[in-house]
Amino acid sequence: KKEALSLVLFFLQVQLFTCAAGIERSDFPPSFFFGTATSSYQIEGAASEGNKSLSNWDYYSHLPGKIEDGSNGDIADDHYHRYMEDVTLMQSLGVDSYRFSISWSRVLPRGRFGEINLEGIAYYNDLINLLLLKGIQPFVTLNHFDIPQELEDRYGGWLSPQIQQDFAYFAEVCFKEFGDRIKFWTTFNEPNFLAKLSYMSGKFPPGYCSEPFGNCAFGDSANEPYIAAHNLLLSHSAAVAIYKKDYQVKQGGSIGIVLMMKWYEPLRNIPVDIAAAERAFLFDVAWFLDPLFFGDYPLEMRDILGTRLPTFSPEERRKLQNRLDFIGINHYTSCYSQDCVFSQCKIDTSSGNALVFTTGERNGIPIGAPSGMDNMYVVPHGMEKTVIYIMQRYNNTPMYITENGYSIKANGSVSLKDMLNDKERIDYHQSYLTSLLNAIRQGADVRGYFAWSLMDNFEWLHGYTLKFGLYHVDLKTQKRTPKQSAKWYKKFLSGPGQKY
Ligand code: NOJ
Repeated sequence: KKEALSLVLFFLQVQLFTCAAGIERSDFPPSFFFGTATSSYQIEGAASEGNKSLSNWDYYSHLPGKIEDGSNGDIADDHYHRYMEDVTLMQSLGVDSYRFSISWSRVLPRGRFGEINLEGIAYYNDLINLLLLKGIQPFVTLNHFDIPQELEDRYGGWLSPQIQQDFAYFAEVCFKEFGDRIKFWTTFNEPNFLAKLSYMSGKFPPGYCSEPFGNCAFGDSANEPYIAAHNLLLSHSAAVAIYKKDYQVKQGGSIGIVLMMKWYEPLRNIPVDIAAAERAFLFDVAWFLDPLFFGDYPLEMRDILGTRLPTFSPEERRKLQNRLDFIGINHYTSCYSQDCVFSQCKIDTSSGNALVFTTGERNGIPIGAPSGMDNMYVVPHGMEKTVIYIMQRYNNTPMYITENGYSIKANGSVSLKDMLNDKERIDYHQSYLTSLLNAIRQGADVRGYFAWSLMDNFEWLHGYTLKFGLYHVDLKTQKRTPKQSAKWYKKFLSGPGQKY
């Protein structure tokens, strides 16, 4: 009986998921940006070319056993050499914007301890100029997980306040060199995810675990994720302060931050789980956004973490609240959460959240259709709920959906033909866009949407086993082939209401 019920519910979900096809470009405001997103380490390759130094990801991905398929980003999509072809792909898609990140080790191989690398500057200048020439608005992320390894070796990377000075210096070099043409900057990509993966579950470099989440050989302070987050926030605010003071008026751009935002539903319809779902979101997102809007961490965090959470000085609080021009939302999925404070439950090692147990299933029924990535379910309404939550808590600050996408697991047995025929990805984007539209119709000031990703690339811990691209990339020949989803996006963008 239970199985029959789950089957019915599953079909209902599939129905809901597939009947969202009716949206058009013209449903969104005319000035709304539609683009694709990537990041430097995931696509550039040329890991030791052009005077680039070793990044923490170059170092870490070469350690045995860290990456699922034993791969690394040495070559990746070879975008460093093929950026012209890739910009042509974007042009043929008809996107009006492109979100990418700058490799810190390419621009400042030794951080503030060495010279600016002119080859790195020239590379990004060429990319930016070409994008502008093709009418594609660059959205630049200053840091998307990769830092020069030297900063890790010298003082312990994000665990040291010294990194604030380094990041501010790097940001200023970028504002100076590229800011005359960049209208949209983000300081960090998913620093909330980075702090947890690097210092809680130990899956990202430097691979530290904090009790009780893992069994790493080194690291092990339960305070580390919060210290890293503190330094990330202060680094962000140092960069924003420099931009606002010396560059924004002259260059006419805006600056924001991008956070990972997963939506949480209560596992059971009881007050403690409802509170747990809210707390899970606060511990993920308000952890970073509350200090930037209200000058301090959420009270709920302080109550539970006490002195494990560092404190800001009055001067830091003032600086943190330097107006953010926009909030970047990376939203992919939702899950259930169960209270772990008042009722005992298993500790959740995947999200690293000690207060809630998160799960993709309720009574054996998944929250949404599964995707290639574990714990990534297709739950379109999570988009609307996330955006509305952010709108309400942060005074409808302009928002961009800086990432949203669907992965397929490529485990040898999936043929190229099947890879190209990615109907699930089309359904995913359509249903999430429909949900986004619901939020916009309720007044949410969302100004753009970036599909992750332009092309298949190096998916961090999963190497090349997970494919998120609109374009397939043959890793032997580097040939790019449009998937059905690329054709769908192109058609959607050229439909009624197109910008150009
Ligand atoms: C978030 C990250 O910003 C990006 O680098 C990653 O590839 C995607 N999510 C998919 O996991």
